Amino acid sequence: MKQSIIRSTGRYLPERVVTNDDLAQLMETSDEWIQQRTGIRERRWVPEEGGVGSADLGLEASKIALERAGWKPEDIDLIIFATLSPDLFFPGSGCLLQEKLGLKDTPALDIRQQCTGFLYGMLTADAYIKSGHANKILFVGSEVHSTGLDISTKGRDVTVIFGDGAGVVCLEGIETDESQGVLACSVHSQGKYANALMTEAPASRQNPRLSREMLDEGRHYPIMDGKNVFKLAITRLPQVTKAVLEKAGLGIEDIDLIIPHQANFRINQAFQQSMGIAEEKMFHNIQRYGNTTAGSIPIALDEAIEQKLIGEKGSTVLFAGLGAGLTWGAMIYRF
Ligand code: UT7
Repeated sequence: MKQSIIRSTGRYLPERVVTNDDLAQLMETSDEWIQQRTGIRERRWVPEEGGVGSADLGLEASKIALERAGWKPEDIDLIIFATLSPDLFFPGSGCLLQEKLGLKDTPALDIRQQCTGFLYGMLTADAYIKSGHANKILFVGSEVHSTGLDISTKGRDVTVIFGDGAGVVCLEGIETDESQGVLACSVHSQGKYANALMTEAPASRQNPRLSREMLDEGRHYPIMDGKNVFKLAITRLPQVTKAVLEKAGLGIEDIDLIIPHQANFRINQAFQQSMGIAEEKMFHNIQRYGNTTAGSIPIALDEAIEQKLIGEKGSTVLFAGLGAGLTWGAMIYRF
């Protein structure tokens, strides 16, 4: 049977390090508040002058992953690009990346599932591979949040948590009888919580889509009901994790590493405790990067493989995440 195998991964984080103390110069916040509430110490942001979009970060991470896979760009059958911060309102960043990779007419598909972009993207890739529509897929999760944040005290609850970055996975279909690849996946959405975390403008339901008045009101900045999202995360993540374990016929003890979306260290601690997961099996890097949304899980996966925490043949990883939409889900993958 055909299975989707991770051939390689790659990541790219912009060079500019923005510490909590740097943010405290720009708004009323403190290193202590941010670390206590979120676990974040610093994040990476693209150069302040602009000119670097999600496709640019995706390109750098793609070059690394392609080289590790031993693939040339022409080998790719499909690009799947997950982002909530596309370079343009349209067309999607996948098309822009396709051009940056020097490709002629390789198909590109954008996914707008925010913090679960990796889960939806991997599931889509797996379906393309198993149905025979593509065999070598470049999955990219990439975000440039920093150019769209309200860097003032008014926006501090949201601004301090987000970072820029990209993670890439090269996935390939192989024929195998072994228990390998995507063992189980479960994804969900609930639009009734759309207002809990959103950026309202520019919006097709407004005419014009962006006005001076909307800019003055700051409606182009993300807003979040943090407490509600926090509560939803600590209840839904254990639920969906139990559901995928059941689908795969596995127990949590069969999982070698859990890579949760990096939204808040406290959310992931609560998740760990409610599932009875051993501390050394949880992967965290939010301290250094903040929340990079669609980039978060693939960046973490790349680091975990580099640190040899996962990646040996037969080793099993569980991914889980929740974010804007509301969307949430989990996936179990075996190397
Ligand atoms: O990946 C997308 C999914 N998103 C998430 O998973 C986010 C989930 N939510 C959270 O992580 C947390 O809700 C936050 C970290 C965003 C906020 O933590 P909180 O404990 O829920 O704080 P809060 O929003 O209830 O605010 C507590 C206080 C308020 O002041 P008062 O009203 O008590 O005087 C805020 O104004 O902290 C204040 N505050 C801040 N103070 C310093 C809010 N943001 C900041 C800040 N620095 N950056």
